[in-house]
Amino acid sequence: MANGSRPEWGTRFGFIMAAAGSAVGLGNIWKFPYITGENGGGLFVLIYLVCVALVAMPIMVSELLLGQGSRQTPVGAFHFFHREGSSWGMAGWLGVLAGFVILSYYSVVAGWAMHYVLLSLTGFTSQGPEAIGETFGKLYTAADLNLLWHTLFMVLTVGVVIGGVKKGIEKTCNVLMPVLMLLLVFIVIRGIFLPDNGFMKAVEFIFMPHAEMLSAHSVLEALGHAFFTLSLGMGAMLTYGSYLGSNKDVVRSALSVSILDTVIALLACMMIFPVIFAFGYEPEAGPGLVFKTIPIVFAQVPGGQFLSLCFFLLLLLAALSSAISILEVVTATLIDRLDWQRRKAAILSGLVIFVFGIPSALSGSGKLFGAWQEIFGRNFFDTMDYLASNWMLPVGGLLTSIYVGWIADETKVRKAFGAEHHSPWLYIGFRLLVRFVTPVAVTLVLLNKVGLLG
Ligand code: TRP
Repeated sequence: MANGSRPEWGTRFGFIMAAAGSAVGLGNIWKFPYITGENGGGLFVLIYLVCVALVAMPIMVSELLLGQGSRQTPVGAFHFFHREGSSWGMAGWLGVLAGFVILSYYSVVAGWAMHYVLLSLTGFTSQGPEAIGETFGKLYTAADLNLLWHTLFMVLTVGVVIGGVKKGIEKTCNVLMPVLMLLLVFIVIRGIFLPDNGFMKAVEFIFMPHAEMLSAHSVLEALGHAFFTLSLGMGAMLTYGSYLGSNKDVVRSALSVSILDTVIALLACMMIFPVIFAFGYEPEAGPGLVFKTIPIVFAQVPGGQFLSLCFFLLLLLAALSSAISILEVVTATLIDRLDWQRRKAAILSGLVIFVFGIPSALSGSGKLFGAWQEIFGRNFFDTMDYLASNWMLPVGGLLTSIYVGWIADETKVRKAFGAEHHSPWLYIGFRLLVRFVTPVAVTLVLLNKVGLLG
């Protein structure tokens, strides 16, 4: 295994940008604002923060230390901390499989963002609300457009990953992330000057506690989201951790990435809701909010075309930096396990993911696997999303915490954690969380899902 030539991040800043780039994605831009509203605002945000701190952070620290300590991708890392050939290597392969599944449909959504960037450039916001609203339906059902954008996005992602850790991923994220944050702050500030007190209404909607909207289910939803939004459970953080020099502190890194991700999620709320409220629209779930409501309301703000361009560019950048991290898990695993060249590994895994994504790209048009919907109750695209975010990632996270808490060699874990550089209580706290709190919490999330199926 190519351990001697292990790539490394150029700077700590570069690593934080790359890891935050992985974490900040569609989950932050549309999912978090929406579930926050649905679960009553302020209290939900508070519960979410507790979930990040007590459940998600321990798993992020676990992934980073597994990567940093072993300097290997998931499969090798699970061997390193247990024993060579350990069947826990399967947990690593599960992550690789999850990577295939997630990226195959993530690329389709990112493709929509590309289409909307182009539409914004050509001024589609000057059409009436009705025509703008219909745009998404037209795109969704157009097989050729979906294939085209899916192809382009995968080519872009593969191109970055071929460039390698420092020259490809780090360099790209060092630009993407600051631009993303600038765009975000710009749209938020624009929101302050909207009519009808939209901004204050949004602040109230997001931060005022509406306890009556909160239920036990909200807690589990917050927990599940904390997990998804930090890219945990498939070895993405583990792989990025494997490029982290051994003198870098994993606890501090996990803290920085989690804080950045949370701040961006909250800013995304402050970006989306003021416009929605200023024009009397209702926050809607899913693609409908991002691809229909947003362009319609932006069209009514002076300078709406530019705002719309900024917004979809931001969405595209967020999706690209997440996609890169997913492809890197697959690519790096092939490099580590099969000694492949990076170029060959990136192109071939990108190609397989591309082909696997074709049914998702064609889901809206019903062109391929049209009967899928009747058999499984959701189309191919939704099935992949459901499988990955509801099952593969939580199971991956559960396995990671059980592994680090109960299976892995404790001396190695303690060393990779950097226990001697911290107060002993920090390590004891981590150990307690990862052994008891995290596995129980993730199991509850999974049980809740099973209950919801019935
Ligand atoms: N965190 C990403 C988001 O918020 C989505 C995601 C989940 C992800 N798991 C991942 C991205 C693994 C990269 C790798 O949209």
